[in-house]
Amino acid sequence: MLRFITAGESHGKSLVAILDGMVANLPISEDEINIELQRRQQGYGRGDRMKIEADKAEIISGIRNGKTIGSPVSILIPNRSRDFFDTAFTTPRPGHADFAGANKYNQKDLRNILERASARETAARSAIGAICKKFLSIFNINVESSIIHIGGQKNFKSAIDKAKQAGDTVGGVFEIKVLNCPPGLGSYSQWDKRLSARLAQVIMSIPAIKGIEIGLGFDQAKLYGSEVHDEIIIKNGKISHKTNNAGGLEGGMTNGEPIVLRAAMKPISTLMKPLKSVDLKTKKPAFAHIERSDVCAVEAAAVVGEAMAAFEISNAMIEKFGGDSLEEIKANFTYYQKHISMV
Ligand SMILES: Cc1cc2nc3c(=O)[nH]c(=O)nc-3n(C[C@H](O)[C@H](O)[C@H](O)COP(=O)(O)O)c2cc1C
Repeated sequence: MLRFITAGESHGKSLVAILDGMVANLPISEDEINIELQRRQQGYGRGDRMKIEADKAEIISGIRNGKTIGSPVSILIPNRSRDFFDTAFTTPRPGHADFAGANKYNQKDLRNILERASARETAARSAIGAICKKFLSIFNINVESSIIHIGGQKNFKSAIDKAKQAGDTVGGVFEIKVLNCPPGLGSYSQWDKRLSARLAQVIMSIPAIKGIEIGLGFDQAKLYGSEVHDEIIIKNGKISHKTNNAGGLEGGMTNGEPIVLRAAMKPISTLMKPLKSVDLKTKKPAFAHIERSDVCAVEAAAVVGEAMAAFEISNAMIEKFGGDSLEEIKANFTYYQKHISMV
């Protein structure tokens, strides 16, 4: 089983990610991890923080002479932007974790909630994603993303500019595609083995993601079965599907077609023209806390979406093919490929 956890606050010393269960002998470098960290920091509409720090990963354990050794991989990402760490605030931002978190953890200073609830944590996820993407690339499996719309509009830049000028924020929809997965990852045999549900969870775990669709998604509910289901055909001597409305997942398993997921991101919760709130200290109406923030982070969320999808597909690959070293899992994968009807 592949699993990971992260630690670290938004403006604390550093972020930490630990990946446990990755096979030994996978070549991976800090540079390869940094590429994904930098991709996450880009995108039109990001806040000034992205100009302050270029994230750089430091491998702490689990990798020796450029290859994984089967032990937990831990990665440190220092925070260069530490300016807000000592600034207290007491007026929760609607849409953020501030209010519920203050109640839950009995905190008077909402900084203690913001710091960990911040999506800064997703930098650690991108580092994990870089390792998982490298692992998948050995099997020719690629994970990619694209932006479908920003705030319902096709002109992304103008949608973001408009929000920024108004002191507002904007969300959007991104799409994740996973190409060349073998059929049979995940299973229908138990609720928690269904890969469709597992992918929904990992994507929904990204802050601000409020909806996910697989393939045709919600539109399927408006159509007839004959319009939705992907007919099975023989194409170039291979059994495959005529269409891919299922988004590559049937019965909780990959069916050999590209996995297609779409995620809806809500607008960023920190508004420069703040919404009404209540100061938890004075118990009087007040405007929500403001601090340096993104106007739109859909592009960055898409990169995090790639990382999370790469993690869960890697998990499903290790579950299906087993093995503790790259050589062992490759041998099992090759055997399976030779014996299935779709190859
Ligand atoms: C990549 C990324 C960057 C984000 N940047 C910000 C930000 O700069 N300011 C902010 O208020 N929220 C930001 N968010 C969104 C918050 O993390 C999110 O609104 C908050 O966690 C509450 O959402 P939830 O209810 O889904 O947890 C970002 C989210 C992602 C995925």
